[in-house]
Amino acid sequence: MVFFSGVGVPVLLLSWAVRLNGSPVSTEQTPSTSASAASVSVVLDGVTYVNKGLVGFGLIPSNFKESTGDTLGGIGSAIAFKFGTWKATNGSFSGTLVVHPDRGFNVDGTVDYQARQHEIDFVLSPYTAAANLNFTAAQKTLQLTYRNTVLQVERNNTKTSGLDPAAVRPAQSGFPVVPTADPQMPIASTSEPHLTIDAEGIIANADGSFWISDEYGPYIYRFTSDGHLIQTIQPPKAILPFIDGQLDFTSDTDPDTGRAGNQGFEGLTFDASTGTLYAMLQSATIQDGGDDKSTSRFTRLLAYNVANPAVQAVLTGEWIVPLPLSSKSNTEACSEIHFVSPGIFLALSRDGDGHGGDDNNSKYKQADLFSISKATDIHGSKFDDPANPLAVKGKLDKSIVPATYISFVNFVDATQLARFGLHNGSPSDQTLIDAKWESLALAPVNDSAFPDDYFLFTAADNDFISTQGVSLGVPFNAGLDVDNQFLVFRVTLPSVPRGSIASSIGAL
Ligand SMILES: *[C@@H]1O[C@H](CO)[C@@H](O)[C@H](O)[C@H]1NC(C)=O
Ligand SMILES: *[C@@H]1O[C@H](CO)[C@@H](O)[C@H](O)[C@H]1NC(C)=O
Ligand SMILES: *[C@@H]1O[C@H](CO)[C@@H](O)[C@H](O)[C@H]1NC(C)=O
Ligand SMILES: *[C@@H]1O[C@H](CO)[C@@H](O)[C@H](O)[C@H]1NC(C)=O
Ligand SMILES: *[C@@H]1O[C@H](CO)[C@@H](O)[C@H](O)[C@H]1NC(C)=O
Repeated sequence: MVFFSGVGVPVLLLSWAVRLNGSPVSTEQTPSTSASAASVSVVLDGVTYVNKGLVGFGLIPSNFKESTGDTLGGIGSAIAFKFGTWKATNGSFSGTLVVHPDRGFNVDGTVDYQARQHEIDFVLSPYTAAANLNFTAAQKTLQLTYRNTVLQVERNNTKTSGLDPAAVRPAQSGFPVVPTADPQMPIASTSEPHLTIDAEGIIANADGSFWISDEYGPYIYRFTSDGHLIQTIQPPKAILPFIDGQLDFTSDTDPDTGRAGNQGFEGLTFDASTGTLYAMLQSATIQDGGDDKSTSRFTRLLAYNVANPAVQAVLTGEWIVPLPLSSKSNTEACSEIHFVSPGIFLALSRDGDGHGGDDNNSKYKQADLFSISKATDIHGSKFDDPANPLAVKGKLDKSIVPATYISFVNFVDATQLARFGLHNGSPSDQTLIDAKWESLALAPVNDSAFPDDYFLFTAADNDFISTQGVSLGVPFNAGLDVDNQFLVFRVTLPSVPRGSIASSIGAL
């Protein structure tokens, strides 16, 4: 029973384990482990949240090709359950994930990769025992099947591009100023340079449309179910990138003010009950200390009312979230957020280590919790102007109360990884946990004994790293094979209004 003992609420967890396994887990199955590997309970705003551990693992191989002939990669940048597909059947769970890569294989510079989303069917057969599965058996707990790809276009059916935005298109026909590819680039046969998108977040709406958040703008775009751009949300001036007083969306260099290069809207989530879209920057704006990892922790969370699609989205809130720090006091930037309940969010913050990363040994990859219940709402204040920084050199202005941020689900817990044949640290092989986890999705467990339990899905962005890759039809060898890994945890989230997560994914 070590899997569920040591920390937290053993009585509850024991009964949970007994129920799921049919009989108590025998002590012979108990691996040697530390308390840190056991289930973890944490308290935020007086509510106890519990991480019951890893229950699923799956992968799509690094060399898998999608219907256009390109390598299927980068898909953990953004995931969501396709509305109305989640089903609980006799202890297993099935449905369709919609996943969105970022900007294509860009190890040797950005490419003219058209934004696209893929549908992937899954069957989750949760594994809750303590004994270690081998890597092959572990993959049966989350079986993934690629279905199809929808390519995205803007007005005039013009393809979008993944190229670095070297140009700016003025506002036109109800759309704001947007980042575009270099007008000198001889791309396709249109007169207009292509809208550039580096997608990092996705919301699957009940009406079949999708919200996509992007790093370049950073902007939020709405697409129809068949991939046509219908709406563009531009953030306040404090977040837009300015160089020498001009909007400049390049990600190659940092701007003077606004979002840092490659630190745009990584986080996107939706509260369906109020029609509120939330987007969060990966780390602080430049004027708020975002030019250095040691000062970039105070990032911004924005709220937009999008309940009425016929009118422009309205900024309704803006808060400061203090991201966690490494042992060297560097910011663990945030790759995704997920709405839990009013004022409460999950945040996926991490280093860049693991398979495909800088080092084999990751020290921080967590789905944490934060609350904005006591935080200062700064929207519409002087801080929406970049002339008024709110955290000069990373020191937060005294007038601002930031969100409360606490540690929650640890992805690199050695014992939990070992239960699924995975590990952290050397050696670097297929069973090393991926470096770049960037997505979160919640679904109800539908267990009447534990009505506050949810499955937390997450997937990694493998950066298309494959020795047998294809990008825009051209073969490439990235020198390493990093699979598209997925993990599923079981968590207790008592603040969630009953039924709200089921209704947000159309599971009622
Ligand atoms: C939840 O489980 C019940 C049976 O216990 C089933 O009838 C119902 O369809 C399930 N709900 C979902 C959303 O799968
Ligand atoms: C559900 O699972 C039980 C126990 O494994 C099995 O006996 C039963 O046949 C299953 N029912 C269906 C409809 O698959
Ligand atoms: C993995 O475990 C399964 C189930 O116990 C077993 O059938 C299989 O032979 C094992 N595979 C390897 C490679 O050890
Ligand atoms: C769409 O086509 C019109 C008419 O040719 C042109 O004026 C406009 O610039 C085009 N817009 C885009 C985004 O390609
Ligand atoms: C990662 O592990 C491999 C062995 O699998 C080793 O060759 C490599 O040096 C390690 N990388 C680092 C940064 O430690």
